[in-house]
Amino acid sequence: MIDVVRLSKTFGTRTLWSDVTFSVSRGEMLALVGPSGSGKSSLLNCIGLLDKPSAGEIRHKGQDVTRFGPRATRRFRRDVLGYLFQNYALIENASVSANLEVSVKLRRTTRGKPGVTVVEALDRVGLAGREHEKVHHLSGGEQQRVALARLMVKQPALILADEPTGALDRDNTAVVMDILREMSEGGCAVVVATHDDHVRDRCDAVFAVDENAVIARTWPRHEHAGTTS
Ligand SMILES: Nc1ncnc2c1ncn2[C@@H]1O[C@H](COP(=O)(O)OP(=O)(O)OP(=O)(O)O)[C@@H](O)[C@H]1O
Ligand SMILES: [Mg+2]
Repeated sequence: MIDVVRLSKTFGTRTLWSDVTFSVSRGEMLALVGPSGSGKSSLLNCIGLLDKPSAGEIRHKGQDVTRFGPRATRRFRRDVLGYLFQNYALIENASVSANLEVSVKLRRTTRGKPGVTVVEALDRVGLAGREHEKVHHLSGGEQQRVALARLMVKQPALILADEPTGALDRDNTAVVMDILREMSEGGCAVVVATHDDHVRDRCDAVFAVDENAVIARTWPRHEHAGTTS
């Protein structure tokens, strides 16, 4: 799905990480772990085209996405990516369903009908019947579940999740991970930056950023049979 090739990020004389190489395939969940400030978010932001690496490539379907201009960047975000952030990134002043309809529209313009309807997605995340409530009236755990429902409607090929469970209790963390796993089994590639051992332990592979700014694959948990890239 995505091949990160010899990617580096420097600020002046400071190297955040360098020579980072890894791939993530459809059906695979990859955890990025490391101390605070080690550069997990900035790596996710580079893959998500919200930031630019200092060197290296991020390859998708034979193209280096880091070289995309504004139009190709927009298209890649719209057609390939799904973001899940700690702060939910919802339209707070709008209703739950209005937040999800944005993804329905996006999906219709790109790949036909959504695979999951708004009602089905809300039911799956335990928010059935809540579609007319304003997002800012929901709790943090509920807002994160709205963000997940939005991803279920969008069905992106690649989900980038930055501390998606950072503000959640154990039960809500399990809900988020169950749904991410379901989406990964449905053919999506998932990269999660996390401090949470429960999240890490549910991923297929772990990459650790250490003090030397090297990212190493620490362990593959199990091999997935039948995954495609
Ligand atoms: N534009 C920038 N210029 C200079 N330094 C930056 C810039 N953007 C990020 N940094 C630095 O890069 C470092 C890594 O930040 P990043 O948010 O990626 O870490 P992180 O691993 O996600 O940490 P946390 O676990 O706390 O979320 C930080 O020290 C930050 O100050
Ligand atoms: Mg971070």
